Amino acid sequence: MRLDKFLCEANLGTRSQVKDLIRRGAVTVNDVSVKGAETRVDEETDIVCVQGRPVHYQKFFYYMLNKPPGIVSATRDKLSATVMELLRPEHRRSDLFPAGRLDKDTEGFLLLTNDGELAHRLLSPKKHVDKTYRVSIDHGLSEEDIQRLEQGVDIGEDCPTLPAKVQQLEETVILLTIQEGKFHQVKRMLMAVDNSVTALKRISFGGITLDDTLKPGEYRELTKEEVKILYGT
Ligand code: URA
Repeated sequence: MRLDKFLCEANLGTRSQVKDLIRRGAVTVNDVSVKGAETRVDEETDIVCVQGRPVHYQKFFYYMLNKPPGIVSATRDKLSATVMELLRPEHRRSDLFPAGRLDKDTEGFLLLTNDGELAHRLLSPKKHVDKTYRVSIDHGLSEEDIQRLEQGVDIGEDCPTLPAKVQQLEETVILLTIQEGKFHQVKRMLMAVDNSVTALKRISFGGITLDDTLKPGEYRELTKEEVKILYGT
């Protein structure tokens, strides 16, 4: 790829800032000073340095965010703070986006990435990726409610919801695992059994569990193993 693109992707500045760096002779490729922004570099093998410091190139980024309530799962919003604003300045990139959405009042695991292909796979309705939510509800569920939630309920779509798994934690707290991601799906499923959600937290996504050391609003990079698990789903 072009040297200026490489430096931009490595978060060293805007296109014009990195062009300026190159023009000023601050950049070397394999120990040779280069002045052309269009110089081709191989991001796998070439050693690019800026002011003598090697540039670490990484194509894809994957962050596990513990989304707090009150924040919107979007890259931009006219009225509310977005999940992107929770990233520290050194991690902000214009190509990062949340892979999927949690409602503004929902907490928990949200993946932020710039890997469009992986996000597409994880969000595809055909892939049936597991998502587990800790759901606080208005009142206890009957055996029949649990059976209905597990078999599929009518939430006003063309088809009932796909089979789900319910685990009772407390009288009014359940774990609900679903494989779809329809708008307000968990809230609508509970409404379908004449109940309602009082708090919602996603605790796992695509086989990865939310790191319980992350406080609301905190995030960390996924490990290589976790990325592999997501690719395997
Ligand atoms: N289901 C909901 O109702 N809301 C969410 O944020 C996620 C799943």
